[in-house]
Amino acid sequence: MRDPIVVLKFGSSVLKNHDALPSVVLEIYREVRRGRRVVAVVSAFGNRTDELLESAQKLFEDPDPSCLARLLETGEAESAATLGLALDQAGIPAKILDAGQLGLTAQEDVLDAEPLEFDVVRLKHELMTVPVIVVPGFSGKLPNGSPALLGRGGSDLTALFLTFGLRAQECRLLKDVDGLLHVRSDGTLDHGTRYATVSYDECLRVGGPLIQPKAVEFAKMRGVKFTIARCGSSGGTLTGPGVSRFEAVDLRPAPTRVALGGLGTVGLGVFRWMNSLPEDFCVVGILVKDSGKSRPEDVPASLLTSSVDHLLEEQPEVVIETIGGTGTAADLVHKAMDSGCGVVSANKQLLALDPELLAKTGHRDGQLLVSASVGGSVPVLESVETITLRQDIIKIKGILNGTCNFILDQVNDGVEFQDALAEAQERGLAEANPHLDISGLDCVYKLALLASRAFGQEVTVDEIEYEGLAEVSSGKLKTARDKGGELKLVATAIRTAKGIKARVGLVIISPQDPLFGCAKEANRLLIETAGHRQVLIHGKGAGRWPTTASVMADLYEIRRGHLAVRQGRTRQEAMAS
Ligand code: NDP
Ligand code: HSE
Repeated sequence: MRDPIVVLKFGSSVLKNHDALPSVVLEIYREVRRGRRVVAVVSAFGNRTDELLESAQKLFEDPDPSCLARLLETGEAESAATLGLALDQAGIPAKILDAGQLGLTAQEDVLDAEPLEFDVVRLKHELMTVPVIVVPGFSGKLPNGSPALLGRGGSDLTALFLTFGLRAQECRLLKDVDGLLHVRSDGTLDHGTRYATVSYDECLRVGGPLIQPKAVEFAKMRGVKFTIARCGSSGGTLTGPGVSRFEAVDLRPAPTRVALGGLGTVGLGVFRWMNSLPEDFCVVGILVKDSGKSRPEDVPASLLTSSVDHLLEEQPEVVIETIGGTGTAADLVHKAMDSGCGVVSANKQLLALDPELLAKTGHRDGQLLVSASVGGSVPVLESVETITLRQDIIKIKGILNGTCNFILDQVNDGVEFQDALAEAQERGLAEANPHLDISGLDCVYKLALLASRAFGQEVTVDEIEYEGLAEVSSGKLKTARDKGGELKLVATAIRTAKGIKARVGLVIISPQDPLFGCAKEANRLLIETAGHRQVLIHGKGAGRWPTTASVMADLYEIRRGHLAVRQGRTRQEAMAS
Protein backbone atom coordinates (compact mmCIF):
# COMPACT_ATOMS: atom_id res chain seq x y z
CA MET A 1 0.00 0.00 0.00
CA ARG A 2 1.38 3.42 -0.97
CA ASP A 3 -0.50 5.84 1.26
CA PRO A 4 0.95 6.39 4.72
CA ILE A 5 -1.11 5.17 7.66
CA VAL A 6 -1.84 7.23 10.76
CA VAL A 7 -3.42 5.81 13.91
CA LEU A 8 -5.58 8.27 15.83
CA LYS A 9 -6.99 7.42 19.22
CA PHE A 10 -9.94 9.37 20.61
CA GLY A 11 -10.21 9.03 24.35
CA SER A 12 -13.25 9.52 26.58
CA SER A 13 -12.00 12.99 27.46
CA VAL A 14 -12.46 13.91 23.78
CA LEU A 15 -15.58 11.84 23.16
CA LYS A 16 -17.34 13.47 26.11
CA ASN A 17 -20.70 13.18 24.36
CA HIS A 18 -22.24 13.40 20.90
CA ASP A 19 -21.39 17.11 20.62
CA ALA A 20 -17.76 16.06 20.20
CA LEU A 21 -18.43 14.20 16.94
CA PRO A 22 -17.71 17.13 14.58
CA SER A 23 -14.26 17.67 16.06
CA VAL A 24 -13.49 13.94 15.83
CA VAL A 25 -14.75 13.71 12.25
CA LEU A 26 -12.66 16.77 11.34
CA GLU A 27 -9.50 15.34 12.91
CA ILE A 28 -9.94 12.19 10.83
CA TYR A 29 -10.84 14.14 7.70
CA ARG A 30 -7.74 16.32 8.12
CA GLU A 31 -5.61 13.21 7.60
CA VAL A 32 -7.73 11.90 4.72
CA ARG A 33 -7.22 15.25 2.96
CA ARG A 34 -3.48 14.80 3.37
CA GLY A 35 -3.68 11.51 1.50
CA ARG A 36 -3.22 9.34 4.58
CA ARG A 37 -5.17 6.23 5.57
CA VAL A 38 -6.61 6.45 9.06
CA VAL A 39 -7.17 3.87 11.76
CA ALA A 40 -9.38 5.62 14.33
CA VAL A 41 -9.41 3.86 17.70
CA VAL A 42 -12.17 4.98 20.04
CA SER A 43 -12.86 4.81 23.76
CA ALA A 44 -16.38 4.81 25.13
CA PHE A 45 -18.27 8.12 25.41
CA GLY A 46 -17.60 10.13 28.59
CA ASN A 47 -18.21 8.11 31.78
CA ARG A 48 -19.90 5.22 29.98
CA THR A 49 -17.39 2.57 31.16
CA ASP A 50 -17.73 3.68 34.80
CA GLU A 51 -21.51 3.73 34.52
CA LEU A 52 -21.59 0.20 33.13
CA LEU A 53 -19.18 -1.02 35.79
CA GLU A 54 -21.11 0.62 38.61
CA SER A 55 -24.42 -0.76 37.40
CA ALA A 56 -22.98 -4.29 37.25
CA GLN A 57 -21.44 -3.93 40.71
CA LYS A 58 -24.70 -2.62 42.15
CA LEU A 59 -26.78 -5.40 40.63
CA PHE A 60 -24.45 -8.32 41.30
CA GLU A 61 -22.28 -9.23 44.27
CA ASP A 62 -19.35 -10.78 42.45
CA PRO A 63 -19.81 -10.26 38.71
CA ASP A 64 -18.24 -12.88 36.47
CA PRO A 65 -15.22 -11.24 34.72
CA SER A 66 -16.09 -12.68 31.35
CA CYS A 67 -19.67 -11.35 31.48
CA LEU A 68 -18.34 -8.04 32.81
CA ALA A 69 -15.88 -7.77 29.90
CA ARG A 70 -18.75 -8.36 27.48
CA LEU A 71 -20.77 -5.61 29.15
CA LEU A 72 -17.96 -3.06 29.29
CA GLU A 73 -16.91 -3.51 25.66
CA THR A 74 -20.38 -2.36 24.60
CA GLY A 75 -19.26 1.21 25.49
CA GLU A 76 -16.60 1.18 22.76
CA ALA A 77 -18.95 -0.66 20.37
CA GLU A 78 -21.45 2.19 20.82
CA SER A 79 -18.94 4.98 20.22
CA ALA A 80 -17.43 3.20 17.19
CA ALA A 81 -20.85 2.71 15.61
CA THR A 82 -21.83 6.32 16.32
CA LEU A 83 -18.59 7.62 14.82
CA GLY A 84 -19.20 5.41 11.77
CA LEU A 85 -22.58 7.07 11.31
CA ALA A 86 -21.08 10.56 11.71
CA LEU A 87 -18.40 9.81 9.10
CA ASP A 88 -21.03 8.46 6.73
CA GLN A 89 -23.13 11.61 7.12
CA ALA A 90 -20.06 13.71 6.35
CA GLY A 91 -19.50 11.60 3.23
CA ILE A 92 -16.17 10.14 4.36
CA PRO A 93 -16.00 6.45 3.40
CA ALA A 94 -15.27 4.35 6.50
CA LYS A 95 -15.70 0.83 7.89
CA ILE A 96 -15.88 -0.39 11.47
CA LEU A 97 -13.80 -3.43 12.41
CA ASP A 98 -14.01 -4.87 15.91
CA ALA A 99 -11.46 -7.06 17.71
CA GLY A 100 -13.05 -10.25 16.34
CA GLN A 101 -12.90 -9.04 12.73
CA LEU A 102 -9.34 -7.81 13.24
CA GLY A 103 -8.28 -11.12 14.74
CA LEU A 104 -6.97 -9.14 17.72
CA THR A 105 -6.14 -11.79 20.26
CA ALA A 106 -5.21 -11.28 23.88
CA GLN A 107 -4.23 -13.42 26.82
CA GLU A 108 -5.48 -13.51 30.42
CA ASP A 109 -6.26 -11.68 32.72
CA VAL A 110 -9.77 -11.16 31.27
CA LEU A 111 -10.06 -7.62 32.63
CA ASP A 112 -6.40 -6.64 32.22
CA ALA A 113 -5.18 -8.66 29.26
CA GLU A 114 -2.08 -8.37 27.06
CA PRO A 115 -2.62 -8.06 23.30
CA LEU A 116 -0.91 -10.81 21.32
CA GLU A 117 -1.47 -10.31 17.60
CA PHE A 118 -3.89 -9.09 14.96
CA ASP A 119 -4.46 -9.71 11.27
CA VAL A 120 -2.17 -7.06 9.77
CA VAL A 121 -2.82 -8.22 6.21
CA ARG A 122 -6.59 -7.93 6.65
CA LEU A 123 -6.38 -4.44 8.14
CA LYS A 124 -4.03 -3.22 5.39
CA HIS A 125 -6.32 -4.73 2.78
CA GLU A 126 -9.37 -2.99 4.29
CA LEU A 127 -7.45 0.30 4.28
CA MET A 128 -7.03 -0.07 0.53
CA THR A 129 -10.80 -0.19 0.09
CA VAL A 130 -11.71 2.76 2.35
CA PRO A 131 -9.57 5.57 3.76
CA VAL A 132 -10.84 5.16 7.33
CA ILE A 133 -11.20 2.13 9.60
CA VAL A 134 -12.84 2.72 12.99
CA VAL A 135 -11.77 0.30 15.73
CA PRO A 136 -13.46 0.04 19.11
CA GLY A 137 -10.49 0.12 21.51
CA PHE A 138 -10.01 -1.55 24.88
CA SER A 139 -10.84 -5.13 23.93
CA GLY A 140 -9.41 -8.23 22.33
CA LYS A 141 -10.45 -11.86 22.05
CA LEU A 142 -9.17 -14.77 24.09
CA PRO A 143 -8.20 -17.90 22.12
CA ASN A 144 -11.70 -19.29 22.84
CA GLY A 145 -13.28 -16.18 21.22
CA SER A 146 -14.63 -14.57 24.37
CA PRO A 147 -13.72 -10.96 25.10
CA ALA A 148 -10.78 -9.76 27.17
CA LEU A 149 -10.21 -6.14 28.14
CA LEU A 150 -6.83 -4.43 27.95
CA GLY A 151 -7.14 -2.76 31.35
CA ARG A 152 -8.14 0.74 32.44
CA GLY A 153 -7.34 3.19 29.60
CA GLY A 154 -6.75 0.18 27.34
CA SER A 155 -7.69 2.02 24.12
CA ASP A 156 -4.29 3.73 24.33
CA LEU A 157 -2.76 0.26 24.20
CA THR A 158 -4.99 -0.78 21.28
CA ALA A 159 -3.78 2.27 19.34
CA LEU A 160 -0.09 1.67 20.04
CA PHE A 161 -0.42 -2.06 19.38
CA LEU A 162 -2.00 -1.40 15.95
CA THR A 163 0.59 1.32 15.22
CA PHE A 164 3.37 -1.17 15.86
CA GLY A 165 1.80 -3.98 13.83
CA LEU A 166 1.01 -1.73 10.87
CA ARG A 167 4.36 0.11 11.06
CA ALA A 168 2.14 3.20 10.84
CA GLN A 169 3.79 6.52 10.05
CA GLU A 170 2.31 8.25 13.07
CA CYS A 171 0.21 7.63 16.16
CA ARG A 172 -1.67 10.48 17.84
CA LEU A 173 -3.48 9.98 21.12
CA LEU A 174 -6.12 12.70 21.19
CA LYS A 175 -6.95 14.03 24.64
CA ASP A 176 -8.66 17.13 26.01
CA VAL A 177 -5.28 18.81 26.63
CA ASP A 178 -2.73 19.67 23.99
CA GLY A 179 0.09 17.50 25.31
CA LEU A 180 1.77 16.72 28.61
CA LEU A 181 2.17 19.71 30.86
CA HIS A 182 5.17 20.45 33.00
CA VAL A 183 4.59 19.35 36.60
CA ARG A 184 6.11 21.78 39.12
CA SER A 185 8.08 20.45 42.10
CA ASP A 186 5.03 21.02 44.35
CA GLY A 187 2.98 18.73 42.10
CA THR A 188 0.87 21.47 40.45
CA LEU A 189 0.56 21.79 36.67
CA ASP A 190 2.28 24.64 34.83
CA HIS A 191 -0.27 25.54 32.16
CA GLY A 192 2.20 27.70 30.22
CA THR A 193 4.84 25.00 29.71
CA ARG A 194 4.46 21.72 27.88
CA TYR A 195 6.78 18.89 27.04
CA ALA A 196 7.60 19.29 23.34
CA THR A 197 9.22 15.85 23.60
CA VAL A 198 9.15 13.46 26.51
CA SER A 199 11.10 10.26 27.11
CA TYR A 200 9.16 7.08 27.80
CA ASP A 201 10.42 7.03 31.39
CA GLU A 202 9.44 10.65 32.05
CA CYS A 203 6.04 9.97 30.44
CA LEU A 204 5.57 7.04 32.82
CA ARG A 205 6.49 9.30 35.75
CA VAL A 206 4.23 12.28 34.92
CA GLY A 207 1.70 11.00 32.36
CA GLY A 208 -0.20 8.59 34.62
CA PRO A 209 -3.60 10.25 34.66
CA LEU A 210 -3.44 11.12 30.94
CA ILE A 211 -2.16 7.92 29.40
CA GLN A 212 -2.27 4.25 30.34
CA PRO A 213 1.13 3.28 31.84
CA LYS A 214 0.85 -0.20 30.35
CA ALA A 215 0.54 1.39 26.90
CA VAL A 216 3.67 3.51 27.49
CA GLU A 217 5.56 0.39 28.61
CA PHE A 218 4.46 -1.35 25.40
CA ALA A 219 5.65 1.61 23.29
CA LYS A 220 8.96 1.70 25.14
CA MET A 221 9.59 -2.01 24.60
CA ARG A 222 8.82 -1.76 20.87
CA GLY A 223 10.26 1.73 20.24
CA VAL A 224 6.90 3.11 19.06
CA LYS A 225 6.77 6.94 19.07
CA PHE A 226 3.49 8.69 19.67
CA THR A 227 2.09 12.19 20.10
CA ILE A 228 -0.30 13.33 22.80
CA ALA A 229 -2.39 16.23 21.50
CA ARG A 230 -5.75 17.89 21.31
CA CYS A 231 -8.05 17.73 18.24
CA GLY A 232 -7.31 20.53 15.81
CA SER A 233 -3.81 21.10 17.16
CA SER A 234 -0.61 21.21 15.15
CA GLY A 235 1.50 20.67 18.26
CA GLY A 236 1.38 18.32 21.23
CA THR A 237 3.96 16.18 23.03
CA LEU A 238 6.04 13.64 21.13
CA THR A 239 6.87 10.62 23.29
CA GLY A 240 9.88 8.56 22.31
CA PRO A 241 13.28 7.25 23.29
CA GLY A 242 14.99 10.66 23.26
CA VAL A 243 15.39 13.31 25.92
CA SER A 244 12.61 15.43 27.37
CA ARG A 245 12.41 19.05 26.26
CA PHE A 246 10.00 21.78 27.33
CA GLU A 247 8.40 24.58 25.31
CA ALA A 248 6.37 27.62 26.31
CA VAL A 249 2.83 27.37 24.96
CA ASP A 250 -0.44 29.19 24.87
CA LEU A 251 -2.69 26.21 25.55
CA ARG A 252 -5.87 28.22 25.26
CA PRO A 253 -5.40 30.45 22.21
CA ALA A 254 -8.36 32.75 21.57
CA PRO A 255 -11.06 31.40 19.27
CA THR A 256 -10.79 32.57 15.65
CA ARG A 257 -13.29 35.34 14.83
CA VAL A 258 -15.35 34.12 11.87
CA ALA A 259 -17.91 35.96 9.75
CA LEU A 260 -20.26 33.69 7.82
CA GLY A 261 -21.80 34.64 4.46
CA GLY A 262 -24.99 32.63 3.86
CA LEU A 263 -27.12 30.53 6.18
CA GLY A 264 -28.70 28.09 3.75
CA THR A 265 -27.99 24.40 3.20
CA VAL A 266 -24.24 24.77 3.65
CA GLY A 267 -24.09 27.89 5.85
CA LEU A 268 -26.34 26.47 8.57
CA GLY A 269 -24.25 23.29 8.75
CA VAL A 270 -21.07 25.34 9.05
CA PHE A 271 -22.66 27.59 11.69
CA ARG A 272 -23.67 24.55 13.79
CA TRP A 273 -20.25 22.89 13.60
CA MET A 274 -18.53 26.15 14.53
CA ASN A 275 -20.90 26.48 17.48
CA SER A 276 -19.95 22.99 18.64
CA LEU A 277 -16.30 24.14 18.74
CA PRO A 278 -16.45 27.29 20.91
CA GLU A 279 -12.83 26.96 22.05
CA ASP A 280 -11.69 27.31 18.46
CA PHE A 281 -14.26 29.50 16.71
CA CYS A 282 -16.44 32.48 17.52
CA VAL A 283 -19.06 33.52 14.96
CA VAL A 284 -19.11 37.33 14.89
CA GLY A 285 -21.79 37.84 12.25
CA ILE A 286 -23.87 36.16 9.56
CA LEU A 287 -24.74 37.72 6.21
CA VAL A 288 -28.11 36.74 4.77
CA LYS A 289 -30.36 38.11 2.05
CA ASP A 290 -33.41 38.57 4.24
CA SER A 291 -32.52 39.34 7.87
CA GLY A 292 -36.24 39.36 8.79
CA LYS A 293 -36.82 35.74 7.73
CA SER A 294 -37.59 33.22 10.48
CA ARG A 295 -34.49 31.20 11.41
CA PRO A 296 -33.83 28.07 13.46
CA GLU A 297 -33.86 28.65 17.24
CA ASP A 298 -30.10 28.20 17.66
CA VAL A 299 -29.35 31.18 15.38
CA PRO A 300 -29.17 34.42 17.42
CA ALA A 301 -30.97 37.24 15.57
CA SER A 302 -28.29 39.64 16.82
CA LEU A 303 -25.73 38.00 14.51
CA LEU A 304 -27.74 38.54 11.32
CA THR A 305 -27.13 41.33 8.84
CA SER A 306 -27.80 41.90 5.16
CA SER A 307 -24.93 44.35 4.71
CA VAL A 308 -21.45 43.21 3.66
CA ASP A 309 -19.93 46.32 5.25
CA HIS A 310 -21.67 45.73 8.59
CA LEU A 311 -20.43 42.15 8.58
CA LEU A 312 -16.83 43.22 8.00
CA GLU A 313 -17.08 45.90 10.73
CA GLU A 314 -17.11 42.98 13.19
CA GLN A 315 -13.40 42.56 12.34
CA PRO A 316 -13.40 38.87 11.48
CA GLU A 317 -10.11 37.07 10.97
CA VAL A 318 -11.77 34.68 8.52
CA VAL A 319 -14.77 35.09 6.23
CA ILE A 320 -16.65 32.02 4.98
CA GLU A 321 -18.69 32.52 1.82
CA THR A 322 -21.61 30.12 1.29
CA ILE A 323 -23.92 32.53 -0.53
CA GLY A 324 -23.49 31.41 -4.11
CA GLY A 325 -23.64 33.37 -7.36
CA THR A 326 -21.45 36.20 -8.55
CA GLY A 327 -23.12 39.24 -6.98
CA THR A 328 -22.98 39.80 -3.21
CA ALA A 329 -20.70 36.77 -2.88
CA ALA A 330 -18.08 38.49 -5.08
CA ASP A 331 -18.37 41.73 -3.14
CA LEU A 332 -17.90 39.87 0.15
CA VAL A 333 -14.94 37.78 -1.01
CA HIS A 334 -13.05 40.70 -2.57
CA LYS A 335 -13.65 43.07 0.34
CA ALA A 336 -12.67 40.37 2.85
CA MET A 337 -9.45 39.61 0.99
CA ASP A 338 -8.65 43.32 0.61
CA SER A 339 -9.02 43.75 4.36
CA GLY A 340 -6.55 40.91 5.01
CA CYS A 341 -9.03 38.24 6.14
CA GLY A 342 -8.57 34.61 5.28
CA VAL A 343 -11.44 33.48 3.05
CA VAL A 344 -13.08 30.08 2.64
CA SER A 345 -15.49 29.73 -0.27
CA ALA A 346 -17.65 26.90 -1.61
CA ASN A 347 -18.66 28.93 -4.66
CA LYS A 348 -17.28 27.27 -7.79
CA GLN A 349 -19.24 29.59 -10.08
CA LEU A 350 -17.65 32.71 -8.63
CA LEU A 351 -14.17 31.17 -8.45
CA ALA A 352 -14.22 29.83 -12.00
CA LEU A 353 -15.62 32.99 -13.57
CA ASP A 354 -13.42 35.54 -11.76
CA PRO A 355 -9.88 35.36 -13.26
CA GLU A 356 -8.32 37.10 -10.23
CA LEU A 357 -9.83 34.54 -7.85
CA LEU A 358 -9.19 31.58 -10.15
CA ALA A 359 -5.49 32.47 -10.15
CA LYS A 360 -5.46 32.61 -6.34
CA THR A 361 -7.28 29.32 -5.72
CA GLY A 362 -4.09 27.34 -6.38
CA HIS A 363 -2.10 28.99 -3.57
CA ARG A 364 -2.71 27.29 -0.25
CA ASP A 365 -1.34 30.31 1.54
CA GLY A 366 -4.33 30.63 3.80
CA GLN A 367 -5.81 33.63 1.99
CA LEU A 368 -8.37 31.82 -0.13
CA LEU A 369 -9.20 28.16 0.48
CA VAL A 370 -11.83 26.57 -1.73
CA SER A 371 -11.91 22.81 -1.10
CA ALA A 372 -15.69 22.66 -0.79
CA SER A 373 -16.15 24.13 -4.26
CA VAL A 374 -15.30 20.77 -5.90
CA GLY A 375 -16.21 17.28 -4.71
CA GLY A 376 -18.00 17.94 -1.39
CA SER A 377 -15.95 16.00 1.16
CA VAL A 378 -14.01 14.09 -1.51
CA PRO A 379 -10.61 15.77 -1.32
CA VAL A 380 -10.24 16.18 -5.07
CA LEU A 381 -8.32 19.47 -5.11
CA GLU A 382 -5.96 18.29 -2.37
CA SER A 383 -5.35 14.97 -4.13
CA VAL A 384 -4.36 16.49 -7.46
CA GLU A 385 -2.17 18.97 -5.63
CA THR A 386 -0.38 16.24 -3.66
CA ILE A 387 0.13 14.11 -6.77
CA THR A 388 1.55 16.99 -8.83
CA LEU A 389 4.28 17.45 -6.23
CA ARG A 390 5.75 14.13 -7.36
CA GLN A 391 4.42 13.38 -10.84
CA ASP A 392 2.78 15.07 -13.81
CA ILE A 393 -0.90 14.39 -14.22
CA ILE A 394 -1.90 13.51 -17.77
CA LYS A 395 -5.64 12.91 -17.34
CA ILE A 396 -8.47 13.47 -14.90
CA LYS A 397 -11.89 11.93 -15.37
CA GLY A 398 -14.69 12.12 -12.88
CA ILE A 399 -18.27 12.44 -11.76
CA LEU A 400 -18.38 15.87 -10.18
CA ASN A 401 -22.05 16.83 -9.93
CA GLY A 402 -24.06 15.08 -7.22
CA THR A 403 -27.42 16.39 -8.42
CA CYS A 404 -27.02 15.10 -11.98
CA ASN A 405 -25.72 11.77 -10.73
CA PHE A 406 -28.65 11.47 -8.34
CA ILE A 407 -31.17 12.36 -11.06
CA LEU A 408 -29.65 9.93 -13.57
CA ASP A 409 -29.87 7.11 -11.01
CA GLN A 410 -33.48 7.91 -10.21
CA VAL A 411 -34.59 8.31 -13.83
CA ASN A 412 -32.88 5.04 -14.66
CA ASP A 413 -35.03 3.46 -11.93
CA GLY A 414 -38.17 4.83 -13.57
CA VAL A 415 -38.68 8.06 -11.58
CA GLU A 416 -39.88 11.11 -13.58
CA PHE A 417 -37.12 13.66 -14.26
CA GLN A 418 -38.94 16.53 -12.48
CA ASP A 419 -39.64 14.34 -9.42
CA ALA A 420 -36.00 13.31 -9.25
CA LEU A 421 -34.92 16.94 -9.47
CA ALA A 422 -37.40 17.92 -6.75
CA GLU A 423 -35.94 15.24 -4.48
CA ALA A 424 -32.38 16.42 -5.16
CA GLN A 425 -33.50 19.93 -4.18
CA GLU A 426 -35.20 18.65 -1.03
CA ARG A 427 -32.01 16.83 -0.04
CA GLY A 428 -30.02 20.07 -0.40
CA LEU A 429 -27.95 18.77 -3.30
CA ALA A 430 -28.99 21.15 -6.06
CA GLU A 431 -27.87 24.73 -6.61
CA ALA A 432 -30.29 27.54 -5.70
CA ASN A 433 -30.66 27.81 -9.48
CA PRO A 434 -30.81 24.13 -10.53
CA HIS A 435 -30.32 25.06 -14.17
CA LEU A 436 -26.62 25.31 -13.28
CA ASP A 437 -26.62 21.61 -12.38
CA ILE A 438 -28.85 20.33 -15.17
CA SER A 439 -27.13 22.29 -17.94
CA GLY A 440 -23.72 20.85 -17.00
CA LEU A 441 -22.38 24.32 -16.11
CA ASP A 442 -21.76 23.49 -12.43
CA CYS A 443 -19.58 20.66 -13.64
CA VAL A 444 -17.80 23.00 -16.06
CA TYR A 445 -16.95 25.41 -13.21
CA LYS A 446 -15.60 22.54 -11.13
CA LEU A 447 -13.58 21.15 -14.02
CA ALA A 448 -12.04 24.58 -14.65
CA LEU A 449 -10.89 24.74 -11.00
CA LEU A 450 -9.72 21.15 -10.89
CA ALA A 451 -7.94 21.09 -14.26
CA SER A 452 -6.19 24.40 -13.53
CA ARG A 453 -4.72 22.85 -10.41
CA ALA A 454 -4.00 19.43 -11.92
CA PHE A 455 -2.13 20.78 -14.95
CA GLY A 456 -0.59 23.85 -13.33
CA GLN A 457 -2.02 26.18 -15.95
CA GLU A 458 -5.22 28.14 -16.13
CA VAL A 459 -8.09 26.25 -17.78
CA THR A 460 -10.96 28.67 -18.28
CA VAL A 461 -14.66 27.94 -18.50
CA ASP A 462 -14.71 29.07 -22.16
CA GLU A 463 -12.26 26.34 -23.09
CA ILE A 464 -14.55 23.54 -21.84
CA GLU A 465 -17.07 21.90 -24.20
CA TYR A 466 -20.16 20.73 -22.36
CA GLU A 467 -23.59 19.18 -22.49
CA GLY A 468 -26.02 18.52 -19.66
CA LEU A 469 -29.00 16.35 -18.85
CA ALA A 470 -31.14 17.89 -21.62
CA GLU A 471 -29.58 15.24 -23.84
CA VAL A 472 -30.78 12.37 -21.61
CA SER A 473 -33.45 10.21 -23.19
CA SER A 474 -35.02 6.91 -22.26
CA GLY A 475 -33.38 5.53 -25.41
CA LYS A 476 -29.90 6.54 -24.24
CA LEU A 477 -30.51 5.09 -20.79
CA LYS A 478 -31.73 1.83 -22.32
CA THR A 479 -28.70 1.61 -24.62
CA ALA A 480 -26.44 2.00 -21.59
CA ARG A 481 -28.35 -0.67 -19.67
CA ASP A 482 -28.35 -3.07 -22.63
CA LYS A 483 -24.57 -2.79 -22.72
CA GLY A 484 -24.42 -3.56 -19.00
CA GLY A 485 -23.25 -0.01 -18.36
CA GLU A 486 -24.49 3.24 -16.83
CA LEU A 487 -25.14 6.66 -18.35
CA LYS A 488 -23.20 9.30 -16.38
CA LEU A 489 -22.31 12.97 -16.68
CA VAL A 490 -18.53 12.82 -16.84
CA ALA A 491 -15.95 15.60 -16.69
CA THR A 492 -12.66 14.88 -18.47
CA ALA A 493 -9.48 16.87 -18.95
CA ILE A 494 -6.46 15.51 -20.83
CA ARG A 495 -3.03 16.98 -21.42
CA THR A 496 -2.33 16.83 -25.18
CA ALA A 497 0.46 18.14 -27.38
CA LYS A 498 -1.85 21.04 -28.29
CA GLY A 499 -2.79 21.92 -24.72
CA ILE A 500 -5.47 20.85 -22.27
CA LYS A 501 -8.59 19.30 -23.79
CA ALA A 502 -11.53 19.50 -21.38
CA ARG A 503 -15.11 18.32 -21.74
CA VAL A 504 -18.26 17.64 -19.73
CA GLY A 505 -20.67 15.19 -21.32
CA LEU A 506 -22.86 12.12 -21.10
CA VAL A 507 -20.86 8.91 -21.31
CA ILE A 508 -21.76 5.23 -21.06
CA ILE A 509 -19.62 3.82 -18.28
CA SER A 510 -18.84 0.12 -18.66
CA PRO A 511 -18.64 -2.20 -15.61
CA GLN A 512 -14.84 -2.37 -16.07
CA ASP A 513 -14.50 1.40 -15.75
CA PRO A 514 -13.32 2.64 -12.31
CA LEU A 515 -16.18 5.18 -12.40
CA PHE A 516 -18.78 2.38 -12.60
CA GLY A 517 -21.08 2.11 -9.57
CA CYS A 518 -20.85 5.73 -8.43
CA ALA A 519 -24.37 6.11 -7.04
CA LYS A 520 -26.70 8.89 -5.89
CA GLU A 521 -24.91 12.09 -4.85
CA ALA A 522 -21.49 10.44 -4.77
CA ASN A 523 -18.58 11.96 -6.67
CA ARG A 524 -15.63 9.96 -7.95
CA LEU A 525 -12.39 11.04 -9.60
CA LEU A 526 -9.79 9.03 -11.48
CA ILE A 527 -6.37 10.68 -11.76
CA GLU A 528 -3.77 9.29 -14.19
CA THR A 529 -0.14 10.29 -14.05
CA ALA A 530 2.70 10.26 -16.56
CA GLY A 531 4.19 7.43 -14.49
CA HIS A 532 1.12 5.25 -15.28
CA ARG A 533 -0.19 5.56 -11.75
CA GLN A 534 -3.97 5.63 -11.29
CA VAL A 535 -5.54 7.15 -8.19
CA LEU A 536 -9.25 6.80 -7.51
CA ILE A 537 -11.03 8.86 -4.88
CA HIS A 538 -14.66 8.63 -3.89
CA GLY A 539 -17.22 9.98 -1.40
CA LYS A 540 -20.27 12.21 -1.08
CA GLY A 541 -20.01 15.17 -3.41
CA ALA A 542 -22.96 17.32 -2.38
CA GLY A 543 -25.28 18.08 0.51
CA ARG A 544 -25.04 19.93 3.81
CA TRP A 545 -22.69 17.73 5.83
CA PRO A 546 -20.09 16.70 3.26
CA THR A 547 -19.76 20.35 2.24
CA THR A 548 -19.65 21.49 5.86
CA ALA A 549 -16.81 19.06 6.58
CA SER A 550 -14.84 20.46 3.68
CA VAL A 551 -15.42 24.12 4.64
CA MET A 552 -14.53 23.42 8.26
CA ALA A 553 -11.32 21.63 7.26
CA ASP A 554 -10.26 24.74 5.31
CA LEU A 555 -11.21 26.91 8.27
CA TYR A 556 -9.03 24.83 10.61
CA GLU A 557 -6.18 25.04 8.14
CA ILE A 558 -6.37 28.84 8.26
CA ARG A 559 -6.62 28.84 12.07
CA ARG A 560 -3.57 26.58 12.40
CA GLY A 561 -1.69 28.89 10.04
CA HIS A 562 -2.62 31.97 12.12
CA LEU A 563 -1.60 30.26 15.36
CA ALA A 564 1.68 29.07 13.86
CA VAL A 565 2.59 32.58 12.74
CA ARG A 566 1.78 33.89 16.23
CA GLN A 567 4.12 31.26 17.68
CA GLY A 568 6.92 32.25 15.29
CA ARG A 569 6.51 29.27 12.95
CA THR A 570 5.58 29.40 9.29
CA ARG A 571 2.16 28.63 7.87
CA GLN A 572 3.75 25.83 5.79
CA GLU A 573 5.12 24.19 8.95
CA ALA A 574 1.64 24.25 10.47
CA MET A 575 0.12 22.77 7.32
CA ALA A 576 2.70 19.99 7.23
CA SER A 577 2.05 19.00 10.85
P1 NDP B 1 -28.68 28.17 -0.26
O1 NDP B 1 -29.49 28.74 -1.36
O2 NDP B 1 -29.27 27.07 0.53
O3 NDP B 1 -28.24 29.32 0.75
C1 NDP B 1 -27.78 30.56 0.32
C2 NDP B 1 -27.66 31.50 1.50
O4 NDP B 1 -27.07 32.71 1.05
C3 NDP B 1 -28.98 31.87 2.17
O5 NDP B 1 -28.82 31.94 3.56
C4 NDP B 1 -29.30 33.26 1.60
O6 NDP B 1 -29.96 34.14 2.50
C5 NDP B 1 -27.91 33.80 1.40
N1 NDP B 1 -27.93 34.77 0.29
C6 NDP B 1 -28.36 34.57 -0.97
N2 NDP B 1 -28.25 35.72 -1.67
C7 NDP B 1 -27.77 36.64 -0.84
C8 NDP B 1 -27.46 38.02 -0.95
N3 NDP B 1 -27.63 38.69 -2.10
N4 NDP B 1 -26.99 38.68 0.11
C9 NDP B 1 -26.80 38.04 1.29
N5 NDP B 1 -27.07 36.72 1.48
C10 NDP B 1 -27.55 36.04 0.41
O7 NDP B 1 -27.31 27.69 -0.95
P2 NDP B 1 -26.36 26.48 -0.56
O8 NDP B 1 -26.06 26.55 0.87
O9 NDP B 1 -26.85 25.22 -1.15
O10 NDP B 1 -25.05 26.83 -1.41
C11 NDP B 1 -24.23 27.90 -1.05
C12 NDP B 1 -22.95 27.85 -1.84
O11 NDP B 1 -22.29 26.63 -1.61
C13 NDP B 1 -23.11 27.95 -3.35
O12 NDP B 1 -22.01 28.63 -3.90
C14 NDP B 1 -23.08 26.50 -3.80
O13 NDP B 1 -22.64 26.34 -5.12
C15 NDP B 1 -22.03 25.97 -2.84
N6 NDP B 1 -22.09 24.53 -2.62
C16 NDP B 1 -23.25 23.93 -2.30
C17 NDP B 1 -23.30 22.59 -2.06
C18 NDP B 1 -24.55 21.88 -1.71
O14 NDP B 1 -24.51 20.65 -1.69
N7 NDP B 1 -25.65 22.56 -1.43
C19 NDP B 1 -22.08 21.76 -2.16
C20 NDP B 1 -20.89 22.51 -2.49
C21 NDP B 1 -20.91 23.84 -2.71
P3 NDP B 1 -31.48 33.89 3.00
O15 NDP B 1 -31.34 32.78 4.01
O16 NDP B 1 -31.89 35.17 3.59
O17 NDP B 1 -32.25 33.48 1.81
N1 HSE C 1 -25.12 21.28 -6.83
C1 HSE C 1 -23.85 20.70 -6.62
C2 HSE C 1 -23.91 19.23 -6.95
C3 HSE C 1 -23.44 20.87 -5.19
O1 HSE C 1 -25.01 18.67 -7.00
O2 HSE C 1 -22.86 18.62 -7.16
C4 HSE C 1 -22.04 20.37 -4.90
O3 HSE C 1 -21.09 21.18 -5.50
